[in-house]
Amino acid sequence: MRHLLTLKDLTTAEIEDVLAIGKALKEDLKRGIRAPLYPNCVMGMIFQKQSLRTRVSFETGMTHIGGHAIYLAGDVDFGKREPIRDFARVMSEMVDLVMIRAKHHEDVVEFAEYASVPVINGLTDYCHPCQALADIMTLRELIGDTTGKKFSWVGDANNVALSLAFICGKLGMKFSMATPKEYQFSDDILQQIHDNAPEADFEVTEDPVEAVTDSVAVYTDVWVSMGQEDEKAKREKDFAAYQVNAELMKHCPQAYFMHCLPARRGFEVTEDVIDGPQSAIIPEAGNRLHAQKGAVVWLLRQLH
Ligand code: CP
Ligand code: NVA
Repeated sequence: MRHLLTLKDLTTAEIEDVLAIGKALKEDLKRGIRAPLYPNCVMGMIFQKQSLRTRVSFETGMTHIGGHAIYLAGDVDFGKREPIRDFARVMSEMVDLVMIRAKHHEDVVEFAEYASVPVINGLTDYCHPCQALADIMTLRELIGDTTGKKFSWVGDANNVALSLAFICGKLGMKFSMATPKEYQFSDDILQQIHDNAPEADFEVTEDPVEAVTDSVAVYTDVWVSMGQEDEKAKREKDFAAYQVNAELMKHCPQAYFMHCLPARRGFEVTEDVIDGPQSAIIPEAGNRLHAQKGAVVWLLRQLH
């Protein structure tokens, strides 16, 4: 049974397949075609954290392909009301695939071990693969071939950063991240990034200017991810020099600004940048729909 838990589990060819299916379905949709590829197919969506994009894109995507999505949040009390192995086996009796947004990545891994339907990670503390798929789809729409191009990350070494590091490595992009020393990836994560794509050009610096120079995309995310609210005051102080603002963007006038959203204007990014001419945030959010339809169809095709 194939799942989409992290992009390091997919080969380069498999990632390209997902993106190609998503692109084709996007083109169909633009022409008014919403082919019911999987009639009455049902996705269960478990949310342990808030969401706008992930929920709406999966639910819409399932409807487009002729299926349906069920939103399961607080009342199922994922991981607490009953053992994850029971949850996974019961849902597998009823739905065709499951998407989970969970606090702890290990819980999604455990769920997938017991599930007999494909499981998609809709964000955990560890990574956010669906976001990175949409991000690369967006960048390719904007600049064409991404091979050999430099992708920059400025800010926290978090879940979104890790999925981008994995996908950039697999797709032959250089990944350069500027992160304060205390918040950089651990040695274990650095080893995973290396193992994911041993030839990949990956660099870490504490200097945002160095990270963004010669880049095609400058990406940032909130300094305080969901679940880190207790660290808010310290993080806002520690990341103050890592704001993406007009001064920083002067070092890469050719680059697009990207953000997974939701954003905190005035913290990780200034209003003039996120709402300015270099910003790609709205088509980027829109591509969550198309990239995830690619992922869903890619997983379902392997079953039928
Ligand atoms: N980027 C993203 O995953 O957005 P949501 O948290 O709104 O789903
Ligand atoms: N890093 C953020 C991403 C939200 C889409 C979080 O985990 O809260």
